[in-house]
Amino acid sequence: MTKSEEQEEETIQFFDSGTKSKPLYRLHGRPVGVLAIFVVIASVILCFFYLDYREVIGTVNRVPNWLQFGNERKSVDFLTEEGNGCDIFDGEWVWDEEYPLYLAKDCTVSEPGFMCRENGRPDVFFTKWRWQPKDCNLPRFDGKLMLEKLRNKRLVFVGDSLGRNQWESMLCLLSSVVANTSSVYEVNGNPITKHKGYLAFKFEDYNCTVEYYRSPYLVPMGRPPPGAKVRLTLKLDLMDWSSTHWRNADVLVLNSGHWWNYGKTIQQGIYFQVGQEVKIEMGIKEAYRKSMETVMHWIMNEVDTNKTQIFFRTYEPAHFMQGKWNTGGTCQKETLPELEAPREPVHPWTQVQFESVANEILPNRTIQDRVFHVLKITDMTARRKDGHLSIYSTHRASSLRNQDCSHWCLPGVPDSWNELLYAMFLKLEAKRRPPASNVSSSPSYQAPMNGGREKID
Ligand SMILES: *[C@@H]1O[C@H](CO)[C@@H](O)[C@H](O)[C@H]1NC(C)=O
Ligand SMILES: *[C@@H]1O[C@H](CO)[C@@H](O)[C@H](O)[C@H]1NC(C)=O
Ligand SMILES: *[C@@H]1O[C@H](CO)[C@@H](O)[C@H](O)[C@H]1NC(C)=O
Ligand SMILES: *[C@@H]1O[C@H](CO)[C@@H](O)[C@H](O)[C@H]1NC(C)=O
Ligand SMILES: *[C@@H]1O[C@H](CO)[C@@H](O)[C@H](O)[C@H]1NC(C)=O
Repeated sequence: MTKSEEQEEETIQFFDSGTKSKPLYRLHGRPVGVLAIFVVIASVILCFFYLDYREVIGTVNRVPNWLQFGNERKSVDFLTEEGNGCDIFDGEWVWDEEYPLYLAKDCTVSEPGFMCRENGRPDVFFTKWRWQPKDCNLPRFDGKLMLEKLRNKRLVFVGDSLGRNQWESMLCLLSSVVANTSSVYEVNGNPITKHKGYLAFKFEDYNCTVEYYRSPYLVPMGRPPPGAKVRLTLKLDLMDWSSTHWRNADVLVLNSGHWWNYGKTIQQGIYFQVGQEVKIEMGIKEAYRKSMETVMHWIMNEVDTNKTQIFFRTYEPAHFMQGKWNTGGTCQKETLPELEAPREPVHPWTQVQFESVANEILPNRTIQDRVFHVLKITDMTARRKDGHLSIYSTHRASSLRNQDCSHWCLPGVPDSWNELLYAMFLKLEAKRRPPASNVSSSPSYQAPMNGGREKID
């Protein structure tokens, strides 16, 4: 990969940058007057657009998919045996009046950073989409059932700030069903707004914790061996030091990929190391591949896969328009998803490498399926250009010129990732523990008869 290609991939902005270096994209100061005029003009345009899409919806020739199919019920439920072959990642976004699954005010544990409505986002459409697989129905997310299934267990998210985005979504999905807000708390009393490398929420009534470990590369970064003239190295043959803490989790959700680019590594003097050797020549793709080999070997050798359910969440596409993340790219005018599937599946190189490593190290599909599961959210997420924080975050000095089109509003898109996680988790639990007892199984999503206005339990 050439240098410029790698910079091309640099789409993520991080408000929780772990390296000490300052982001390289700070804007130069602009005369306040010019900025104010710009803001006013942009708001006017935004207003027009906001009014406009209602018109657009009214004038589409054919009835949009989401009006027709929003409540259509497929004949197969994912959680039944018939649903075994269903690819839940192949589907479409459908309008659902029952959504969102929670309101920001009911999510007592989360921070304001992702709460777009609370931060002034005027439209609500982005909270109203449900992911509908083509060939089956997903179970409706039931926080109480999830907590019951997580009783005495640890659910751990490990990865970058997008992993954190998903973790906070899960906290909201679960905490919004717990009436006693003081029974849900961070185990060390840390406020969630202060970034920490580790945060864990306990749901006391269930003796379960939902944790987040920050580890954007999954392998450790540290000082290079003596004599090497580079600032830092990523040690590709070792697991992140914090892995000893998450190895024994009951459910482990890993993500990696967004930090494997030129701007976050070599450009900052961070090179790759294998054993005692710094590999100055090694490119990003090869380095990522090596790190994934390390992760797979770790899973095989160090993790009790009978106990720990491992999920890999795939790459999450960003949506910067009219520019890139560092050249004023925007997404704040986006209020509707792409309702059609993209003609070509979105298949980033990280995913190609991941699959290739998995097939090399675990050539037997049967064993692969037993050892880990892939949350293949790239395609569905690519269609959600409307779901980003854009300017409605408290994390950074968000501005029209400096938008966050990588992270996601809550409630919003990460909730759908977690619904898929939930569905897979329940299915795996059922497989592991065949219904020996008469514990009731999860209710599947039931299409309401009255056009979707009734709350469903
Ligand atoms: C609570 O959960 C932990 C695992 O997360 C377990 O080790 C412990 O035994 C549980 N406590 C009780 C009282 O069941
Ligand atoms: C709520 O949880 C707190 C902390 O566990 C506990 O002390 C309190 O008794 C609970 N309140 C109710 C009404 O259950
Ligand atoms: C996992 O379970 C399988 C089947 O029950 C068993 O054969 C195997 O020994 C177990 N592995 C470990 C590490 O406990
Ligand atoms: C995969 O491994 C399992 C268990 O060792 C074995 O039963 C099965 O036949 C293997 N499948 C293939 C395609 O090699
Ligand atoms: C399970 O079935 C047994 C016997 O049929 C019954 O006594 C028990 O109450 C049932 N338990 C639940 C949770 O339904």
